[in-house]
Amino acid sequence: MWMRKLERSDLTTIKAKKGWLKMHLILFGPPGAGKGTQAERIAKKMGIPHISTGDMFREAAAKKTELGFKVKEYMDKGELVPDDIVVRVVEERLKQSDCEKGFLLDGFPRTVFQAEVLDRILERLNRKVDAVINLEVGEEEIIRRLSNRRVCRVCGAVYHLIFNPPKVQGRCDKCGGELYQRDDDREEAIKRRLKVYLEQTKPLIEYYRKKGILVDVDGNKSIGEVEKSIEQILKEIKD
Ligand code: AP5
Ligand code: MG
Ligand code: ZN
Repeated sequence: MWMRKLERSDLTTIKAKKGWLKMHLILFGPPGAGKGTQAERIAKKMGIPHISTGDMFREAAAKKTELGFKVKEYMDKGELVPDDIVVRVVEERLKQSDCEKGFLLDGFPRTVFQAEVLDRILERLNRKVDAVINLEVGEEEIIRRLSNRRVCRVCGAVYHLIFNPPKVQGRCDKCGGELYQRDDDREEAIKRRLKVYLEQTKPLIEYYRKKGILVDVDGNKSIGEVEKSIEQILKEIKD
């Protein structure tokens, strides 16, 4: 069953089925695992919003809003933004009408506290997290991915100089925006982010495994292969 070749059209067919909407998914994994890359693809196919707390904070920092000033210092150092700030931002975002269709969370929750708050928010809405997709990637590969990552300053699209290069050097394929290297993709900040992940975020794997909704995915494979594995899992969840 797992080995069956998955056709690209499968998701479109599933999407049309009743109940496909309203999926509440979490894409989980260490820094650089490919959460953003996969979330963008999967959310687009499923027609649900891709909610990345990291993207929201970077946007606020770029716009120099009050929130942006507060979070930038933590992000640049590779530390977690304090729970109270994160939870307020997510709660606000989940109230927006597009989330009625379901959502795909990327980079949230990152602490047990955040996971518990999410459960409470969903409970109030009579909903629950349907699945947590855990992208497993080795540390060497993470460093290879993060040190060559480039991000579009305008639309946030993610590239890799070797594994997923833009067609024109330094320019976004989608909008022509300038590509830049994230401030937290420096060696020192990468090391800190990995440590913070192990100490504060990895315990969530057990939190969700106990609930029986965690699915492990080998994230070391190519972008296309990982995408196929995720599609297969989502299909099985609905079948
Ligand atoms: P966030 O933006 O969430 O960063 P992160 O978790 O460190 O994850 P990344 O975005 O670095 O990696 P990714 O898994 O999305 O990988 P990507 O797809 O880009 O958070 C940043 C900061 O914000 C945090 O440190 C914290 O300060 C703060 N923050 C955010 N949320 C928070 C929260 N809930 N609580 C507290 N603080 C919070 O891929 C990486 C690279 O690899 C790319 O170049 C990509 O092209 C390439 N790639 C992807 N997949 C593959 C593949 N299969 N093969 C080869 N290359 C690949
Ligand atoms: Mg990301
Ligand atoms: Zn762009």
